[in-house]
Amino acid sequence: MHRVQDKIALVTGAANGIGKAIAERLASEGARVFVCDVEDAAGVETVQGIRGRGGQAEYVHADVALQDDVAQAVATAAAQAGRIDVLCNNAAYLGKVHAVLDSTGEEWDKCIKIAMMGTHYFTKAVLPYMIAQQSGSIVNVVSIQALVGMMTSVAYTSTKAALLGYTLSAAYDYGPQNIRVNSLCPGPIRTRVSPPPGSPHHKWQCDNTMLGRTGEPEEVAWAALFLASDEASYITGATLPVDGGWTAK
Ligand SMILES: NC(=O)c1ccc[n+]([C@@H]2O[C@H](COP(=O)([O-])OP(=O)(O)OC[C@H]3O[C@@H](n4cnc5c(N)ncnc54)[C@H](O)[C@@H]3O)[C@@H](O)[C@H]2O)c1
Repeated sequence: MHRVQDKIALVTGAANGIGKAIAERLASEGARVFVCDVEDAAGVETVQGIRGRGGQAEYVHADVALQDDVAQAVATAAAQAGRIDVLCNNAAYLGKVHAVLDSTGEEWDKCIKIAMMGTHYFTKAVLPYMIAQQSGSIVNVVSIQALVGMMTSVAYTSTKAALLGYTLSAAYDYGPQNIRVNSLCPGPIRTRVSPPPGSPHHKWQCDNTMLGRTGEPEEVAWAALFLASDEASYITGATLPVDGGWTAK
């Protein structure tokens, strides 16, 4: 069954990790996916992988922190595809773990510009298309770090918490236009930024979940697919943890 057949989807930060898994899952369920990232070689590789499996994908270079890049990316997708059905705001700056006193201005700047303003620029750019269509699904990849206290970076956590508010506000404003906006909150997911298996940090992550393990990017992608699809037609403004039970423990 193709759960997002013929939908046009933009996924940011889709060259690696969770974004890549989301792009691959959406494509394998029938969507035409625009892979947006700044790591061009990895982004092209993601696209080639999707096409190699018979899916439809294009790579679009876009630094989410630059409004001109975002406008260009969305215009490219809309010009080629004629509509935009799904936006997944996944790109973020993942800083080091440290406390308030050690956080730098540069880190705050990057967290705000990439996760927060990147989400805003992309959302603002796709909304006119979704309003014209009277339909759309926006999935913001947040983090359980916006829901519970833990060792993290204060700039990262603060920006992610702000995204929960952004989701609610956008969901409220554009619900009447049949545009749904939801937050997905991954727990510890195995990507290139994760602590190595067997390390104390990895063990701490596993011990904090109910399932006793870290998650895979594909497990987040299934949840993103659901929120992107018409199966979630009455779900908006929601926060969905994909965290092995961490926030429920
Ligand atoms: N891995 C986890 O455990 C975890 C947990 C909770 C939330 N998350 C969230 O999931 C998302 C993806 O994280 P990941 O673990 O897959 O990381 P990752 O580093 O594997 O992937 C992030 C992608 O974003 C891209 N990116 C970074 N800055 C960008 C920019 N300015 N413009 C466009 N693209 C940019 C990177 O090039 C990369 O391809 C992030 O929003 C992160 O906060 C991850």
